[in-house]
Amino acid sequence: MVVLVGYSSKYGATEGIAERIARKLREAGRDAEAKPVSVVETPDRYTAFVIGSAAYMGSWRKDAVEFVRGNLELLTSRPLWLFSSGPLGTATRNAEGRELILEAEPKQFDEFVAALEPQGTKVFFGALNPEALRRRDRLVRMIPAGRELLPEGDFRDWVAIDAWAATIAAELPASA
Ligand SMILES: Cc1cc2nc3c(=O)[nH]c(=O)nc-3n(C[C@H](O)[C@H](O)[C@H](O)COP(=O)(O)O)c2cc1C
Repeated sequence: MVVLVGYSSKYGATEGIAERIARKLREAGRDAEAKPVSVVETPDRYTAFVIGSAAYMGSWRKDAVEFVRGNLELLTSRPLWLFSSGPLGTATRNAEGRELILEAEPKQFDEFVAALEPQGTKVFFGALNPEALRRRDRLVRMIPAGRELLPEGDFRDWVAIDAWAATIAAELPASA
């Protein structure tokens, strides 16, 4: 009876969110473990799933997308929640006045929601440390629009993350 908080994280921000969700589930009395999806060998040993990825250029990372697409049947048969990490900054709306949290939904969410009917989906603000970036990501930040959209800092909202974890803990069936 273990809940998998499976994640894909390039620089650690999403890993931190996944670890926090797993810890909150354990504090609520659930057996939960956070793991990169890329190392999950026997997904069917988990009784419920919380799957998350960082968003890059509007998209979930490849290993998270592959994990979901490769386990569609399993994921539809068990309680499932999906989360995404990104955007960045302190503004809650973009220049056009639209909610950033909605604008930042990765392009796979529509497909995944239609195919899997998860119990919940959530987008969380992320974190970015420019010094850690690999070359290609650093180049994206060098164009003015890139720097504006990708400010440096840790914008993870632990209150929102904890609240979402509490909802999951409450909604998990007793057997999960
Ligand atoms: C090159 C680059 C592109 C990004 N593209 C997006 C994006 O399209 N949407 C978004 O919400 N966040 C985007 N982000 C922000 C990351 O998703 C955010 O920093 C995330 O928390 C990183 O998580 P990780 O450290 O687990 O990889 C981007 C960041 C970088 C460096």
